Amino acid sequence: MAGKTARLDAARFGPWALITGASSGIGRGFAGQIAANKINVVLAARRLAALDELGRELAARHGIRFRSLRADLAGPDFMDAVIGETQDLDIGLVVSNAGDMVLGEFVTGDYALLARETTLNVNSHLAIAHHFGQRLARRGEGGLLLVSSTAALQAVPYTANYSAAKAYVFNLGEGLHHELAPKGVNVTVVLPGATRTPMLSRFGADKGSMGRLAMPVDSCVADALNSLRVNRAVRVSGRMNRLATTLPRTARTRLFGALSKSMAQQASAADTGVPAAGQAR
Ligand SMILES: NC(=O)c1ccc[n+]([C@@H]2O[C@H](COP(=O)([O-])OP(=O)(O)OC[C@H]3O[C@@H](n4cnc5c(N)ncnc54)[C@H](OP(=O)(O)O)[C@@H]3O)[C@@H](O)[C@H]2O)c1
Repeated sequence: MAGKTARLDAARFGPWALITGASSGIGRGFAGQIAANKINVVLAARRLAALDELGRELAARHGIRFRSLRADLAGPDFMDAVIGETQDLDIGLVVSNAGDMVLGEFVTGDYALLARETTLNVNSHLAIAHHFGQRLARRGEGGLLLVSSTAALQAVPYTANYSAAKAYVFNLGEGLHHELAPKGVNVTVVLPGATRTPMLSRFGADKGSMGRLAMPVDSCVADALNSLRVNRAVRVSGRMNRLATTLPRTARTRLFGALSKSMAQQASAADTGVPAAGQAR
């Protein structure tokens, strides 16, 4: 069983780490555990105030430095901001984590939202892995951690575009693991299942049986960072999730599709007025 805080060698994965999606949920958890290992953090997301507040808290608690990077990773030219804020730093660790999910029937879904979801869940990983993959390879050591999902392992009706995007991240990460290992760079792609974050709450999935089965953020993050440290190519978070991967693919598609359909129906019945996933904040 993974501990609640990962141990990382700051000499190898520091002195700076970049974490996307650091303002909330799993990304916030990564920032906390990386800072606890005395690695300075660049915190990237759209909500600058949340990043600044987290950065100040981590700096006070762990004596590290931080930089907040406001970037819309589903917008145009987002890499200009990412490169601009990081080019003077020696980045030894990159966690490409930011993501969001559009829930509901594909053909009646809002095309603009689906396109934004794809830019965020596919293109941001592509651009970040390419730019920082080059930098890490030149450096000859460090780590790249990509956050996919167990949704990558089979099609999931009613979150079809999300599961397709996460399959891209899964295959990208696994491929880069083999390309970058000879250059001294660890690459791990992590596949969380349901994890207790604001994303889960937005879809009302924090209640009932899914809420009870959902992993705590700290365990998911510690397991992912420990997997990167030992350079595992792929890690499904949590024993129950690993067990679920042994079900036949068709059964998983039916099961997860039914769950997504029911979440979509509940969300549309509740119609909370909360911005839909993928919408600009
Ligand atoms: N929670 C789960 O059950 C679960 C399961 C499997 C995989 N995952 C994956 O884990 C990752 C983190 O999800 P989470 O559950 O922690 O969700 P979350 O609590 O909603 O956090 C998502 C993070 O991504 C950032 N983000 C969203 N859209 C962005 C954009 N356009 N530009 C820049 N940053 C953006 C958000 O920051 P701002 O809003 O401030 O921009 C936030 O920091 C995602 O890739 C998700 O697909 C989650």
